[in-house]
Amino acid sequence: MIPRRLAQKEKGEWALLQKWMAESDASATAFLQEWEQKLAAYIGVPDVAAVSSGRQALRLILEHLGVGAGDELIVPAYTLGEMLPFVASLGVTLVPADIDPESMNITPETVAHRLTGKTRAILALHIFGVPCDIQGIRALADHHGVKVIEDCAHSLGARVQGRPTGSFGDASFFSFEITKMINTYGGGLVASSTRPLVDAARAFNNSEPPGYTTLENKMQGVRLEESFFRRRLMYLPLFMLASPAWQPLMNRLYRSSQQKQKKREQYSDVQARLGLIKLAHLEERTALRQERIALMNSLLHEDIRPQQVREGDSASGYFYVVRLPVKAAAVRRRLLFRGIDAGAGNEIMDHCAAQLGYTDCPGIDTVFEHALALPMYDGIKEKDCEQVILTLNKVLA
Ligand SMILES: Cc1ncc(COP(=O)(O)O)c(C=O)c1O
Repeated sequence: MIPRRLAQKEKGEWALLQKWMAESDASATAFLQEWEQKLAAYIGVPDVAAVSSGRQALRLILEHLGVGAGDELIVPAYTLGEMLPFVASLGVTLVPADIDPESMNITPETVAHRLTGKTRAILALHIFGVPCDIQGIRALADHHGVKVIEDCAHSLGARVQGRPTGSFGDASFFSFEITKMINTYGGGLVASSTRPLVDAARAFNNSEPPGYTTLENKMQGVRLEESFFRRRLMYLPLFMLASPAWQPLMNRLYRSSQQKQKKREQYSDVQARLGLIKLAHLEERTALRQERIALMNSLLHEDIRPQQVREGDSASGYFYVVRLPVKAAAVRRRLLFRGIDAGAGNEIMDHCAAQLGYTDCPGIDTVFEHALALPMYDGIKEKDCEQVILTLNKVLA
């Protein structure tokens, strides 16, 4: 089977992690400091602070920017729905901005449509690693005295007119979850030119208990998933995920096994040490993903629309998502019968406009049930990419 994604992994990294965990003091910070310096230089901001997750990073940013009770935060109509309840619990009113069906991103126009006197900030996501028009959104926000927070959970490695995402907002955050561009078995990052915000995030991380429980749990999760794939046991859960009766339960189980941090813990020096190795290859890996995506785009039937990248921008290649002329759920079932794992509906991202009770977002309505996430991961072979697209074209014909 060709999986839709794989944990991003270096050769022999589990043995290294075990060794480092055994020999290092859990509260050491030497690699952490180097990791933060290298990431700040890569992103192009003066300073960054690593924390335990992307969500934690967002919480710290909102707190520091003073986004709270009585304020409105504009969020993408298409994003991770699990983030919304916790932001709403801060007393913030969430208002969805619609997406452009071609890029699947929010735009200055859809954001402008949602601005009110109460808008305090805009959460601008570069969805699936394709940059949104962050310069346009920044200009609009500046004009209205509103803050911009960049959600770069998918976009490490992506560039806007040559400049990395994450340096345009008042603050930005990244994720180092297992399928993200750099996997350090969980973790997040606050990046900003505002030093006190980064200092507060670093102080928060230092105040959390040291330990490796989350890292070990996530390593075990990946090991289990890999052994399921090797023994072809993955077909059962994937067919359940593709079945309308089982999908909601299976998707909930999958998300909670992958993303929830079960215990409060610092982002550790050991995770940073692994991150440093991976950051050194990021450009090369991103270039390879872009090559594979270009190949798949060139083979797609003309009725299938790949996600559009604006001229002069480059995507990270985090996910490869296309929009079909028909609903995606039935197509992904047929692909699975042919040995190709793909994602549809809320396995890709959530319809947050609907989640927030809004019915005036035609862009997300156009995309949500028609989007299909096809296999994309480090080292995906050219022949597998060809097989995926030729099979998809055939299934649709
Ligand atoms: C769009 C988006 N934002 C934020 C996050 C949160 O990152 P984390 O899982 O590290 O909390 C994710 C995670 O997948 C995401 O997809």
